[in-house]
Amino acid sequence: MTLVYEGKAKRVFTTEEDGVYRIEYKDEVTAGNGAKKDSMAGKGRLNNLITSKFFEKLNEEGYASHFISRLSETEQLVRKVDIIPLEVVVRNKAAGSIVKRLGLTKGQAFEVPLVEFYYKNDELNDPIITEDHVKLLNIADDEEIKALKEQALIINRILIRLMEQMNLSLIDFKIEFGKDKDGTILLADEISPDTCRIWDKATNENFDKDVYREDTGSLIDTYTAFYNKLEAL
Ligand code: C5P
Repeated sequence: MTLVYEGKAKRVFTTEEDGVYRIEYKDEVTAGNGAKKDSMAGKGRLNNLITSKFFEKLNEEGYASHFISRLSETEQLVRKVDIIPLEVVVRNKAAGSIVKRLGLTKGQAFEVPLVEFYYKNDELNDPIITEDHVKLLNIADDEEIKALKEQALIINRILIRLMEQMNLSLIDFKIEFGKDKDGTILLADEISPDTCRIWDKATNENFDKDVYREDTGSLIDTYTAFYNKLEAL
């Protein structure tokens, strides 16, 4: 089957079925747009298991995504979509880039969740952009921008509830959407500790990629601990 896309953490292949792709999760881990890079045995498996579980949970809540089924420990079957070149970030508390950009205090809670758009473009280092920029670049129109924001907030509410059940706090996350052949917007890509910040409610311990970004712990141990909590739900 043909490789249609290879990113930092995943490979996407065609399948024999029209409109269905196979995603293979890789063991590569990167931070800072590839500035820091490693390979860790078992990382692809963990992110595939975690993402599959999140997409199944979203389905149970009536929220459909590109996810069809988990095929193996490291692979999923998904609906074919054209990825919209936006990283949609939702923030419930201040952490990461917003702390630096706006001089906020790490951990500061937002009364209303923030939705931000970043232009998915490695050469430009994925810059944060406004809704006017999204329209200028012909990425999405007003109606689609509204839909992306609404969907991001729906996903946020569902994920917050799941995290609560695990005594965890969802600080922020990044999602990507795609369009199927009818132009319907579908959640795509992944939801994993690579793409979310998750803190222990009592201790603020990280259950996410910050342990790798900041060299504060073992990524595999951290993701395994998170997966065990998710599995126990
Ligand atoms: O770095 P920043 O604070 O903007 O990240 C916000 C959230 O988006 C974090 O959960 C981070 O893991 C995620 N993110 C991502 N991929 C990127 C940039 C951010 O998954 N390229």
